[in-house]
Formats: sequence, C-alpha cells, structure tokens
Amino acid sequence: MTDPPLRLFVALEVPAAVRSALAAWGEGVVGLEAGLRPVAADGLHVTLCFLGGVSASLVPEILAACAVVEARPAAELSIGQPLWLPRRRPHVLAVSLSDAGGRLAAAQSLVAGALADGGFYEPEARPFLPHVTVARVRRAARIRARELSAPEPTAFVGETVTLFESRLGGGGARYEALGSVALGGRSG
Ligand code: 2AM
Repeated sequence: MTDPPLRLFVALEVPAAVRSALAAWGEGVVGLEAGLRPVAADGLHVTLCFLGGVSASLVPEILAACAVVEARPAAELSIGQPLWLPRRRPHVLAVSLSDAGGRLAAAQSLVAGALADGGFYEPEARPFLPHVTVARVRRAARIRARELSAPEPTAFVGETVTLFESRLGGGGARYEALGSVALGGRSG
C-alpha cells in the first residue's frame, strides 16, 4: 500500500503581531456575516504555490527546490484593502498586500519556476495576487461582496518561506510547517 498523499503548499509567513491584528479584524467582519468562518491567527499566511496532493517521499526535494529564494531580499509588505475572492461569488475574505519593489512577486515567481521544473507544481494562469485569507465562506452559504472598512495599514517584513502540510479536519484545516527557507541568505 502507498501512503496517502500530503496536501502541501508553500507560503510566506506573517509575523505573529500582524497575524493577531488581522485575525481580530477578521473576527469583527465575521460578526457581521453568519456565512463566514474566521481563519485562526496561527493559520494566517501568504500562499505562494498550492501543490495539492504530493507523496511524502518528495518533501526533501520540494524543500531543496524552495531554497532557490534563499539569497533573495526579504519582502517589504503592508496590509492593504479587504478583498472578496472571487468578487462575484466570494469563497474567501482576504486582505491585499502591497509589495514594495515587487520582492514578494519575484520570490513567488522563482519558487513557482523551481517547483514547476521539478514537476511538483503546475503554475497558475492568473497572475500572483499577494493576499492573506482571513475568513472563508461556509459551505452552502452565499455572501455578498459588501464594502468593508480596511484593517490598520500595518507594514511588515516577510522573511520566511515555508513548506506547509494542510491537514483538513472538522474544525477547519491545521497547517504544519515541514521546513523553511529564510530570505536574505539565512535558512532554517
Ligand atoms: P489562500 O487562502 O491564501 O488564498 C492552504 O490550503 C492554502 O492553499 C490556502 O490558504 C489557499 O490559499 C491555498 N489553496 C487551497 N486550495 C487551493 C486550490 N485548490 N488552488 C489554489 N490554492 C489553494
């Protein structure tokens, strides 16, 4: 018997203080919309590449491919506007990130290319949209993309790119870090 595949994705980590602030903002919105489920603070991240189901035996090679960004500069980000995705019939509520100098977009493109070259990832046709998902629309719920006041426009540095395993379960997905690459030349 082969082991069941792991559900994997690569994401930029968000500092704990920013996660707490975003989670608090998300909970405020969820209080207005019964069809939304908040993402807990420890589940907040910036998805770079969603790999889907992958054999556990490939994790070392996937981590090695992620190291392509090791020498890249850290990303200078700031919290932007609320985003309903997709706008017409939202599945998630996210906040956009502004990406000074396009450093995050450049890192995403490098990781995506390295993962695609290794056969682990099929790049998406749509352009990369830096965002943090703060709430998800409950199954069978339908939400109108209403105007929301934006969270505090917080600036932060994104310096850790992590391969996560997503474990789906009753109370929402749990994310476990399998390994990280530090931007700016440090790795852990
Ligand atoms: P997002 O919430 O940042 O938009 C882990 O499940 C992460 O992978 C999620 O946070 C989600 O990104 C992204 N994800 C989940 N399922 C996906 C899919 N089918 N296609 C693309 N990205 C997906």
